[in-house]
Amino acid sequence: NGNLTIFFFVLLDIPLRQVIAEECVAFMLNWRENEYLTLQVPAFLLQSNPYVKLGQLLAATCKELPGPKESRRTAKDLWEVVVQICSVSSQHKRGNDGRVSLIKQRESTLGIMYRSELLSFVKKLWEPLVLTIILSLFVKLHNVREDIVNDITAEHISIWPSSIPNLQSVDFEAVAITVKELVRYTLSINPNNHSWLIIQADIYFATNQYSAALHYYLQAGAVCSDFFNKAVPPDVYTDQVIKRMIKCCSLLNCHTQIKAIGQTELNASNPEEVLQLAAQRRKKKFLQAMAKLYF
Ligand SMILES: *[C@@H]1O[C@H](CO)[C@@H](O)[C@H](O)[C@H]1NC(C)=O
Ligand SMILES: *[C@@H]1O[C@H](CO)[C@@H](O)[C@H](O)[C@H]1NC(C)=O
Repeated sequence: NGNLTIFFFVLLDIPLRQVIAEECVAFMLNWRENEYLTLQVPAFLLQSNPYVKLGQLLAATCKELPGPKESRRTAKDLWEVVVQICSVSSQHKRGNDGRVSLIKQRESTLGIMYRSELLSFVKKLWEPLVLTIILSLFVKLHNVREDIVNDITAEHISIWPSSIPNLQSVDFEAVAITVKELVRYTLSINPNNHSWLIIQADIYFATNQYSAALHYYLQAGAVCSDFFNKAVPPDVYTDQVIKRMIKCCSLLNCHTQIKAIGQTELNASNPEEVLQLAAQRRKKKFLQAMAKLYF
């Protein structure tokens, strides 16, 4: 493969420039050169370049995804590297009042790169599987937090370890911000991906933004049902999603609104009004189906 050979030499160029390695690794991940990244990258590059290391772990996790046991081993390595990136050393500090408090070093990391570097690297990627893996990992890391009431759902979540030994050093606020940024980014790559729309909805739900959550749950249903002309697949509107939508609805008091709109015909002359009514009607149809499921 001609391209790869060129990249291979670029990678071997001394002194190795991080920015070139970053581009090369992103290129290979986007074009699914997972075999190459997993097996053929020279060992010294793996040790000296954090992007090569990260790329190798991502490639290996993608490659081994169908085989549960194997993938769990590589996934664990990737998990540990990312957990370290999101971990900060904390310091005990005595304030003016004499009280000791724990200060977390925000812009520090115990990992192979800064979280901001990881994020800007991820924003060079567009291959759906690798994005899914990264998103899934961060969602899991977000859910691991002890005080989480509402989990976020993501695919392949079971490949990650279920706990972290050093929970206190993880900067969970940074993790939450990262999850939000990652979803925003993945939806900019593909705004019609129902899995990513559900993640976005779950994030809003978890942060008590019910109107936005409902909007994204409906959007997720709409994109995979030809705007509710077909039934929404049950793996998209799972029991949990439906329960959350009902909760959104009752908190937003939208049952009554929709009932009222249901009486109206769609013959308005104002196109904007028609569109709005149409949108409401889809919601109505959907909510009727939902009610049937609920009772
Ligand atoms: C949509 O997201 C799912 C799960 O994250 C992923 O498996 C799939 O490849 C994505 N599809 C596209 C076209 O982006
Ligand atoms: C619109 O108006 C026509 C005639 O008045 C009527 O037959 C039709 O049912 C109305 N509603 C819709 C949704 O087209």
